[in-house]
Amino acid sequence: MTPLSLTVNGHRIGASVEPRTALADFVRDGLNLTGTHLGCEHGVCGACTILLDGVPARSCITSAVSCDGAEVTTIEGLDNDEITAELRDAFTREHALQCGYCTPGMLVSARDLVVRLEEPCEKRIRVGMSGNLCRCTGYVGIIRAVRSVIAERRARGIPAEPDGGRKTFGPAGAHEPAEAAARAVVSTLMREALQPAATQTEDEGDFIPAARFEQSLTVAFPPEEVFALLGDVEAVAACLPGAALTAPPTPDRVEGEMRVKIGPIAAAFRGTARIARDRSTHSGRITGGGIDARGRSSARGAVSYRVLPGDAPGTSLVEVEVGYTLSGVLAQFGRPGLVKDLASRLTADFAGNLEAKLSGGDAAMAPAQELSAASLLFGLLRARLGALFGRRSV
Ligand code: FES
Ligand code: FES
Repeated sequence: MTPLSLTVNGHRIGASVEPRTALADFVRDGLNLTGTHLGCEHGVCGACTILLDGVPARSCITSAVSCDGAEVTTIEGLDNDEITAELRDAFTREHALQCGYCTPGMLVSARDLVVRLEEPCEKRIRVGMSGNLCRCTGYVGIIRAVRSVIAERRARGIPAEPDGGRKTFGPAGAHEPAEAAARAVVSTLMREALQPAATQTEDEGDFIPAARFEQSLTVAFPPEEVFALLGDVEAVAACLPGAALTAPPTPDRVEGEMRVKIGPIAAAFRGTARIARDRSTHSGRITGGGIDARGRSSARGAVSYRVLPGDAPGTSLVEVEVGYTLSGVLAQFGRPGLVKDLASRLTADFAGNLEAKLSGGDAAMAPAQELSAASLLFGLLRARLGALFGRRSV
């Protein structure tokens, strides 16, 4: 844990955080400031935008420890801010929001433009807001709202501040202690990533996963058939997007590769796993680890599963528990929420492929390609917004 001292919405905060904690998680989970939304968690959608030393920043890809000594302002800290109040009125008047999921980030970015732009230039506003994605409104109302606030304020004789009121030179949050903290984070990650491959074995030893989640899938075949297929390692690998065997498997040991692409980072984890199965309980456990030689990331994990009769006759419910630890550059994407969302969609593909396999219809299977977070992103956003409104798709 790393000590952290910063100012959030005008209050001095002292805390102790894990070096890999994102600023968004720190304010949401640690300070209960949930107005900062999380959409993509890749620095793409802008839903998590906050002010860091007065400058808009993506809190999902900003590590909390790098903000030591910084001033953080979340949307809650702008409750009584005059510009934000004018923007809120303008957003309402111009129908610049529907679901409102993107709106906190939109308001933070828009406020920065209202402070800095001399004129309500549509082109500059569009460029300035291009880092904030909205899947509802089509942007016309948003641009109109920002333009109107700039025009009204300049008409009232309120001048622009071209530097946005920055008090310090350099990137947002660039204080000397923060630089030292950032260096410490990088060296920790590098040390973990450069650990010898010998540590990445299938032995469980004293492995304690950094994160866990549970998942279940329903398959339209009876438990005996599903359990038998889960014992066929080659068939399971063929059903899992991104997975491939690198050597002939034995019933209790497998060597393979898992290709993952998250944002700009691609990894191919190569490793081994040990398999244990118990026919009497229709359960099994797979433990193993892999290393990505190119990106210097590594992963260890344990997967336990149990095949139960499903609700409908002739169907099965497969309960899965996953524990994992990611190290190296991919660790920044290892947050439980994101991994669980990706796993949900991976599980859906896996269940479909499993059923196709059990039907004997390999041709109908979805191709087991690289597991790509980019291709899952919009499905993920749709699922999250659907959950927000209590329905599966929006
Ligand atoms: S940019 Fe941070 S959640 Fe999308
Ligand atoms: S109003 Fe922007 S995402 Fe719904």
